[in-house]
Amino acid sequence: MTTQVKDLENQLAELRQAALAAIAGAQTLESVEQLRIAYLGKKGELSVVLGGMGKLSAGDRPQIGALANQVKELLQTNLDRKRTDLLAAQIQAQLEAETLDVTMPGFYRPQGRVHPLQSTIDRALDVFVGLGYTVEQGPEMETDYYNFGALNTPLDHPARDMQDTFYLPDGNLLRTHTSSVQIRHMETNEPPIRIAAPGRCYRRDTEDATHAAVFHQLEILAVDEGLTFTDLKGTVKTFLEEMFGPVPIRFRASYFPFTEPSAEVDVQWNGRWLEVLGCGMVDPNVLKAVGYDPEVYTGFAAGFGVERFAMVLHQIDDIRRLYTSDLRFLNQF
Ligand code: DAH
Repeated sequence: MTTQVKDLENQLAELRQAALAAIAGAQTLESVEQLRIAYLGKKGELSVVLGGMGKLSAGDRPQIGALANQVKELLQTNLDRKRTDLLAAQIQAQLEAETLDVTMPGFYRPQGRVHPLQSTIDRALDVFVGLGYTVEQGPEMETDYYNFGALNTPLDHPARDMQDTFYLPDGNLLRTHTSSVQIRHMETNEPPIRIAAPGRCYRRDTEDATHAAVFHQLEILAVDEGLTFTDLKGTVKTFLEEMFGPVPIRFRASYFPFTEPSAEVDVQWNGRWLEVLGCGMVDPNVLKAVGYDPEVYTGFAAGFGVERFAMVLHQIDDIRRLYTSDLRFLNQF
């Protein structure tokens, strides 16, 4: 064997070893392509080695030619395999990166809710609107006349006491109940009347678990020819059954200055009688105050505390929870 042959064989062996190591170490498709060009390209290292074949005798060429082809094929195979492996790894990585893990916690959007006081008002109004009532509102700052006088409340009635009512420096007051809306509505409308009036009321109560200085009431009033206590009872019963379900209900004789006769209504709830509402037939004096003829018209009215209803319906133990805007509480509704 000539030294040139030996030389070329050594060069090919070195090239083969270096190329295989480089291919094995390639990490990217780009570097695989660079290695292909570097070793097998037109001006690549294999071509350089083969350039030396010119010096060989015709007899030695086939031997080196065959060896060079083997090396070329081996490198080609290794480059192809490397490319296939890298592609597979790339696809695998992509699949893993894009996998949807359905057990991951989601991103929660903060969600608004209807406050339990508002939802109680909404439910009650739904019932009364269904019975043909329209929704009315009146001012929270009132005169003595609308809050007391026209409602047949005598000057010495305890409700008018400074202890119970917030009086304003100008002689007006913050309404202590929504009954004032009855007067305002009747003054400017003629019977038949059917209104439901929700709204905020104020009393100088010391705040505790069941009392708030600012609270809500919902008032209804119906005035027409021939309305009787039976109509009142049927309306109140329908309303309470819509709100509480088919619960036992009882009417107890009571007193309000603006109704005669008057009643308080209890519902049986978790085995106890709970007072939920005041009502009665509109006192003839109230009808006279707004210019209605009590010989022609009769009416009934009822009023209830919205907080009380919400607390019973949602098992809320302290009225103050309804006003503290604590999201841990409000998110339950
Ligand atoms: N205004 C009364 C209160 O605040 C509630 C009430 C009782 C309203 C009887 C009425 C009624 O309309 O007829 O305690």
